Amino acid sequence: MNVSNLREEALKEAEAIENADQLKSFEIKYLGRKGKLNDVLGLLKTLSIEERRELGPKAQKLKKELEEIVAFKTKEVSLESSPQIDITRPGKKQELGQLHPLTKIQNEIHDIFMAMNFSVVDGPEVETEHYNFDALNIPPDHPARDAWDTFWIKEEVKKIGSRKLLRTHTSPMQIRYMETHEPPFQIIVPGRTFRYEAIDSSHEINFHQLEGLMVGKNVSVANLKYVIETFMKKLFKRKIEFLFRPAYFPFVEPGMEVDIKLENGKWLEMMGAGMVHPRVFEEAHLNPKDYQGFAFGMGIERLAMIKYGVPDIRLFNSGDLRFVKQFKK
Ligand code: DAH
Repeated sequence: MNVSNLREEALKEAEAIENADQLKSFEIKYLGRKGKLNDVLGLLKTLSIEERRELGPKAQKLKKELEEIVAFKTKEVSLESSPQIDITRPGKKQELGQLHPLTKIQNEIHDIFMAMNFSVVDGPEVETEHYNFDALNIPPDHPARDAWDTFWIKEEVKKIGSRKLLRTHTSPMQIRYMETHEPPFQIIVPGRTFRYEAIDSSHEINFHQLEGLMVGKNVSVANLKYVIETFMKKLFKRKIEFLFRPAYFPFVEPGMEVDIKLENGKWLEMMGAGMVHPRVFEEAHLNPKDYQGFAFGMGIERLAMIKYGVPDIRLFNSGDLRFVKQFKK
């Protein structure tokens, strides 16, 4: 009996294996219950102790080796029977993501204002009644509150003023910023705002505003006019005609609305603005005798609708990729 011969024979045969059938017969022939290896192992019993000591380990080693070969060949054979990859086929194009039009326009807005030395700041979307209304000179019984249909947060009613709501505008950040910063400063506050109202092609319950605030010792309506006009011209990249009309907002005096002339010749109201009301300075613990300031607030969706020619405000939140993809560079 010769284990080395058996090994040589098996290795030679293994090398020639090309498919699953051949592999199966190989396995049966050598490793099967009635296979050659078992024959050898069976024969060992008939040998002397010395011969067994010599051949036993050799036979066990061969068994292990053949098992490893079978395992390896199993993988090889199954790879070969799987479909081949045609590397000459054109690849599948991976689509790249892109910015949402509102993000795009916000980035542009930031750049324009940062070039005028404004800082971009952020505020909470869940506000207190105090910051959203009272401190902006809109006390609870003030009829102007009707202008902002409000989502109130359901909770145990606490002190009046500390009730929570989804901010109806970005103006509350005027107070928060003035409370914590020493003028002079100039900021913009872009952010999400909420109104409890009927949705149509130009109204959403969930939209974005851009607030502006500049406070210092010699801030005037002329500064307000310059900043707004510069911003609009840079954003729309054209000459624009403006109309500054007197309007009422409780937190500014004088207050105004700013219209621009669209390319089709029609006037469109773009924002509210004005000089910060003395009561608002007082609410933020600044002395109105020391400072003046201007403020403005506008809808970011409206800016994007004009700039990009978007016909319906509902498209922004529709999640419709066909809409978003139009803004691919
Ligand atoms: N917060 C106002 C609104 O949502 C817009 C506004 C008007 C903001 C006048 C201002 C302002 O800062 O001075 O309707």
